[in-house]
Amino acid sequence: MSKRRLSAHCKLGMQQNIGKQQKSPKKYEDDVTLCKGVPSQHSLCHTFSDAAEIKDFRKRLLTWYNKCKRDLPWRKMATSEADADRRAYAVWVSEIMLQQTQVASVISYYNRWMQKWPTLQELAEASLEEVNELWAGLGYYSRGKRLQEGACKVVSQMAGHMPRTAEELQKLLPGVGKYTAGAIASIAFGQVTGVVDGNVIRVLCRARTIGADPTSTAVADRLWALAHTLVDPAHPGDFNQAVMELGATVCTPKTPLCIECPVKQHCRAYHRAEKDLKVSAERLLGKPASKYSQLTDVEECANTTGSCSLCLPPSEPWDPSLGVANFPRKTTKKKPRIEHTATCVLQRRCIGGEPEYLIVQRPSSGLLAGLWEFPSLLLEPGQEKQPKSVLADHLQTWVGSDMAVGHLQHVGEVLHIFSHIRQTYVIYFLNLNKDERNWDREVELPASRWVTKTEFESSAISTAMKKILKAYEAWSSKISSDKVVKRKRDLKSEERSSCKRQLSLDSFFATDPKN
Ligand code: ADE
Repeated sequence: MSKRRLSAHCKLGMQQNIGKQQKSPKKYEDDVTLCKGVPSQHSLCHTFSDAAEIKDFRKRLLTWYNKCKRDLPWRKMATSEADADRRAYAVWVSEIMLQQTQVASVISYYNRWMQKWPTLQELAEASLEEVNELWAGLGYYSRGKRLQEGACKVVSQMAGHMPRTAEELQKLLPGVGKYTAGAIASIAFGQVTGVVDGNVIRVLCRARTIGADPTSTAVADRLWALAHTLVDPAHPGDFNQAVMELGATVCTPKTPLCIECPVKQHCRAYHRAEKDLKVSAERLLGKPASKYSQLTDVEECANTTGSCSLCLPPSEPWDPSLGVANFPRKTTKKKPRIEHTATCVLQRRCIGGEPEYLIVQRPSSGLLAGLWEFPSLLLEPGQEKQPKSVLADHLQTWVGSDMAVGHLQHVGEVLHIFSHIRQTYVIYFLNLNKDERNWDREVELPASRWVTKTEFESSAISTAMKKILKAYEAWSSKISSDKVVKRKRDLKSEERSSCKRQLSLDSFFATDPKN
């Protein structure tokens, strides 16, 4: 690979990462009999401390995983690829794509990515534009950018060799946090280290009835300690994937399939829910309270004063109607901020050609960095009431001549939810007649271009913009069909009146048939 080409793409990312120090992950004991750091007030109910139980948990979970795991492309790569760097790269890509994204959405993106850039070296040569084009529609676009920057770093500074431990991966690679580092190290290199993501949190909180806020540092630390305690030293990668798989397919948030769970024997939330059911059944049948009414010591927290920092808080006690879904505790999410953006589908039609749309590139940092969009303007508070005139002003930049507000046609609105923003796009349409096409000369602002529909679809365009084009197309075809209906109606009424005229003429000339 040419060094010159590599450095062109790599430079910026690396400069941005210089001096960034990440916290190194804590080391945890692997000894199954210990769960170190458990504050004395926590009862055994929140830990895994029995060696036989841990062994059985691992065995059941791995047996289930080997039989039931989904056939996913990155899993094949992780087992069949002999080269450790290629294997780690394949896992890295999958783990980054899977952050905040469902498996079903990731598969096709993953296959396209690995086909286009099968190795770190090839990814290091890619441009951000190419990365954004491939990533278009997957969301959280900085993930792709960081992957590419990371590949540059591995190729140019580490001779193409991926760091071999979770600690090094987290320290050296941009966008690789504690979870991703643990996943790559355990799956690709067999490092005995646990991982904690959303699925693992759910499984562990249920297994050990942890009802405290899992996003708090203290609880998160406890969960990591549990994950490190449980991970199977003989199959760390498979074990970690098995816990995640269980959380994704069986121990699901709302309607978990406890009957199918391979480790329900070890789940304290399951035991509690089962006990609830039995006690209610006994009560319904008028039976005297049986042994089920008395809790077994290890199932419930020994700390009965309500001060255990891992239990459900006294303000939100166990709700029998929820069963195991009492755990993990719901955290209150910050409300997304509300924003309005005025957008214009600006179309031009060359003689005999298909329509083209103007797209403009977003700034290289911030939301949807570097992606392309229809000319848009984020409305200031208060401007939502007059988006049309504000947009018309803004469009002067792109039109380059005075533009009458009246030419803008209102198409409709599209709502798009980003993780932290509830964005309403107020859509307008502006058609440019061929007479007005002295544009190419005037629209010379660097980051804008005219694209056909096909080109639009393969550009680095966000899902929101794709929704806007669809809304425009629906609006435009409705307008066309309304016009057809109106023309037909006009024709019919014209026919009717000419028919009437004909009739009156006929009656004028009518002769008596008898004559
Ligand atoms: N979620 C993220 N990574 C995963 C993996 N390797 N297996 C299952 N679920 C996952």
